[in-house]
Amino acid sequence: YLNYQVPRTRKEIFETLVKGLQRLEYRGYDSAGIAVDGPNKTTTDINGNTICLIKKTGKVKALDEELYKKDTLDLDEKLNTHFGLAHTRWATHGEPSALNSHPHRSDKDNEFVVIHNGIITNYKELKKYLINKGYEFESETDTEVIPKLIKYVYDNRENDSITFSTLVERVIQQLEGAFALVFKSRHYPGEAVSTRRGSPLLIGVRSEHELSTEHIPVQYNSGDLQLFGSIFEIAPSDFSHIGLHVFPVFLSAHSAIIEHTNKVLYLEDDDVAVVTKGELSIHRVNRQAGEDPVRAIQTLQMELQQIMKGNFDAFMQKEIFEQPESVVNTMRGRICFDSNKVVLGGLKDHLKEIKRCRRLIMIGCGTSFHAAVATRQILEELTELPVMVELASDFLDRNTPVFRDDVSFFISQSGETADTLMALRYCKNRGALTVGITNTVGSTICRETDCGVHINAGPEIGVASTKAYTSQFVALIMFGLMMSEDRLSLQERRLEIIKGLNVLPELIKQVLSLDLKIKAIANELYQQRSLLVMGRGFNYATCLEGALKIKEITYMHSEGILAGELKHGPLALIDTQMPVIMVIMRDACYVKCQNALQQVTARSGRPIIICCEDDSEMTKNAYQTIELPHTVDCLQGILSVIPLQLLSFHLAVLRGYDVTNAHKSHSVQ
Ligand code: F6R
Repeated sequence: YLNYQVPRTRKEIFETLVKGLQRLEYRGYDSAGIAVDGPNKTTTDINGNTICLIKKTGKVKALDEELYKKDTLDLDEKLNTHFGLAHTRWATHGEPSALNSHPHRSDKDNEFVVIHNGIITNYKELKKYLINKGYEFESETDTEVIPKLIKYVYDNRENDSITFSTLVERVIQQLEGAFALVFKSRHYPGEAVSTRRGSPLLIGVRSEHELSTEHIPVQYNSGDLQLFGSIFEIAPSDFSHIGLHVFPVFLSAHSAIIEHTNKVLYLEDDDVAVVTKGELSIHRVNRQAGEDPVRAIQTLQMELQQIMKGNFDAFMQKEIFEQPESVVNTMRGRICFDSNKVVLGGLKDHLKEIKRCRRLIMIGCGTSFHAAVATRQILEELTELPVMVELASDFLDRNTPVFRDDVSFFISQSGETADTLMALRYCKNRGALTVGITNTVGSTICRETDCGVHINAGPEIGVASTKAYTSQFVALIMFGLMMSEDRLSLQERRLEIIKGLNVLPELIKQVLSLDLKIKAIANELYQQRSLLVMGRGFNYATCLEGALKIKEITYMHSEGILAGELKHGPLALIDTQMPVIMVIMRDACYVKCQNALQQVTARSGRPIIICCEDDSEMTKNAYQTIELPHTVDCLQGILSVIPLQLLSFHLAVLRGYDVTNAHKSHSVQ
């Protein structure tokens, strides 16, 4: 928001916004858009103000080029109100397209435009309500209900003196889910209104003078702002829970503004921030007891360079460290930790059919296949159905028999992997129900499956899959929990798992704090030719996945071995030289794993053991231990894979491979 007193050309405003978007590019996105003041039409009824919207799929560069193609827009026109919106989108509802990208608008005249990060979980009811009231929708997004809703509130205002912030306050009272929102309106030229709940949002504050106060007082409105009590007249059965997607905004938002100011203000949930004529004020409805009535302006200490990278050298590393948040985003809006209800909106209409099926077939490649291996046992337990796990290529090679009463799952981060896609078409042709578990909305697998779950892990840019794996894992567990809701005999087990999921982000943070120790282990191992990873039961998938990560990015030979198979051949590889990592957690396989450990030590192997905290038995026998917090057996694999993700990253760096630039390419094999 540039100083309002100095007129700026439209071109200058574009440049500022585009630069901000470019600073956010490293987070990954599929489309981008901008809204600024349009040509001043003195003939229009609304103060002559117009807003122009320009949106484009793909790169910010493509949007930038598009801005200069609009010959109807005078780039040199000086604008008194400089307030423009810009947004990069990663699709969570609706495919990546210009129509689905932000800003979204209230109507063809762009009376209100909005950008949104987060997810509106009750958008379906709101949309239905607004359609009934005659509002027309043009996108497939959850966000679009917001500009329509603010227009509805505006159209039904009790008087013309209603403020922009009051409209926004009324709108957010009707929203469920998580959001960071910024609004612009032709009815309130030059005014910016912004608010948040659940999604982070900060405001950069710049002043010509040294800021005389470091605090902004919060203004409280009293009174009942419920405008339309009837909005929830829709039957509760229509309610669908949709997972939440939140960008890691704190760092990225810093990066977008740092060249303008290093003074920032973090908004609290339900704060409504308004900028009018260059003055910032913060509003809330009704002060709650104990609530802080001021917001402090803080000074950022970081340099731009540092912010862009975060504390990370590579996307893979950044994504590993994002896992406490990405698993929350997978669960958000889907698990109610009070009622222990789990609802996956994308599957609920097919639940009856799934429950009646002959078997579940889980299909994927690489890491996505490992997510199926990791959750197979708990899915068998919770669904009481046979579960097959299949590598897509092998499944096709075998011409595997598939029946109409099978339910087939296609697990894929990208949603585009060729073998998985072919397997999907193969199952579809044979009449099986097809379910997608993907991270990429609008991908081919998303479009071609009958139903599905978006894992909402956020864009995965690093070439090796990390956070998508843990989110796939969580999504599949949630499916099992949803399937077993009415099984009395399984309630205790469900409860235990739901409790485990609730504290999972904290436990992941604890595992991530072992990074330095893991780096030290990598220092010992990086010159080795080979590395074995051994385990069984719930942690077998961890071994496969850990070995795949090591192979893929360190170019070192690595093998995931089922500990139960040790005596059938692999034991021959064990000697003092061969590095062996063993995953031995306190679960039903503990004693069997101890046997495997004895076999390894008997051959003078020097195992590095990933085990539970305070397991003196393991510490005694290990060359080194990596001790993890204990969780429910079926969730332990989410924690046990993280040291191996970190290890592979450090090994790759030490071996001199350029992990920093190892990004996913757009070609999909
Ligand atoms: C490993 C990895 C690959 C992918 C595999 C499937 O780190 O990234 O093994 O898991 O290529 O890709 P998606 O999940 O996009 O179908």
